[in-house]
Amino acid sequence: MKAGLFLGLFILMASCSFQESNCNCDNRSAKIRTYGILKQPAIPADNPMNFCAIELGRKLFYDTRLSQDGSTSCGSCHQLSMAFTDGQSVAKGAHQKQGNRNSPTLFNLAWSPYFMMEGGVKSLEMQSLAPLLSAHEMMGSAQSLPTTILEDPCYDQMSQTAFHRPLDYFVVVRALAQFQRSLVSLDSHFDRVMYHKTESFTPAEQRGWKIFNSSTAKCSTCHIPPLFTDFQFYDIGLKDTLDLGKERESYHSSDRFKFKTPTLRNIELTPPYFHNGMVDRLDSVIALYNRGGDANRAQKSHSIRPMNWTEEEKKDLLAFLMTLTDWNAVQNERWLPLSE
Ligand code: HEC
Ligand code: HEC
Repeated sequence: MKAGLFLGLFILMASCSFQESNCNCDNRSAKIRTYGILKQPAIPADNPMNFCAIELGRKLFYDTRLSQDGSTSCGSCHQLSMAFTDGQSVAKGAHQKQGNRNSPTLFNLAWSPYFMMEGGVKSLEMQSLAPLLSAHEMMGSAQSLPTTILEDPCYDQMSQTAFHRPLDYFVVVRALAQFQRSLVSLDSHFDRVMYHKTESFTPAEQRGWKIFNSSTAKCSTCHIPPLFTDFQFYDIGLKDTLDLGKERESYHSSDRFKFKTPTLRNIELTPPYFHNGMVDRLDSVIALYNRGGDANRAQKSHSIRPMNWTEEEKKDLLAFLMTLTDWNAVQNERWLPLSE
């Protein structure tokens, strides 16, 4: 009975938002869903969240007209079904131009203190400008938005409702930031075991979780739950020597080959792995940690060293990592392109 009522309400809400999705939208203020696991994140004072701005950001996120050749949107490299990654080792942008980095997930960025793998970008608002204008990504022009976008009456109406001004880059970066802040993934098997205590680990998952936290493996010292990152930068001994990592931003040679610790949430859905997608499979990532990385350099983290795990221990660790998949998040229709 209760479930039926809930379902009915849900469908009602879904159909309302569908009808309204085109041009009219709801400018009431919005909050980020935290699932009782994290605190509300700090939101920039000049970009308070409202539902209409989030919907506008969603429309922009999937609009290929924002790229110079009309081929690429944010959603081309950040696809919901792959937890907002793209399955490529390194991303390809407008005119098929190849970048040199692997597209990262966009979940839970509302809690991120800075962005990009060297952490050089301080806000999500600023971050959006990088792909919009980058030569490897969308190749847009900083002077003005494409006329096809400016002439779209729907954009104009949504922009007026959400921001009380016509659509321009001021609006675009704020709306994109709001849409991205709304992308939360905190509803995995792990969360139900750890925070809500409504499910329990299998024996293999439990053993894997123990290894993850152990003083030998030390995974959880860098990949700290619940976000599974410490937002710090490390050289973990990967062979790639082309990408200087954090040194590109700090100009300190001691930062060479250091990259921001990525989250491990939805890791099952985001191959290939590492900053340049050099490793295809999760069991190969575990094998790499087991041998203590592939390159020993002065700045390499001391936590990364040979582990001598048994086959069973490797499987257990893998089983634990699979508990971080959030099937509800990656099937959330509110994060798919708006139906026109
Ligand atoms: C051509 C593929 C491509 C396109 C198009 C693209 N991105 Fe990305 N995105 C990437 C890659 C690759 C990175 C990693 C860059 C880095 O850290 O150096 C990235 C990084 C990011 C980050 C930083 C995430 C973090 O954890 O620090 C955000 C946010 C982001 N993109 C949002 C967007 C938005 C918004 C758009 C559209 C305006 C967009 N991206 C378009 C490939 C793409
Ligand atoms: C010293 C900090 C540190 C420790 C300890 C650590 N990691 Fe990492 N991890 C990182 C960094 C940094 C990266 C990204 C490296 C890169 O791309 O260059 C990473 C990447 C990963 C990736 C790939 C993520 C992706 O999206 O590409 C996985 C999976 C992973 N770590 C799992 C583990 C496991 C399992 C352990 C324990 C055995 C562990 N890590 C221990 C810092 C650490």
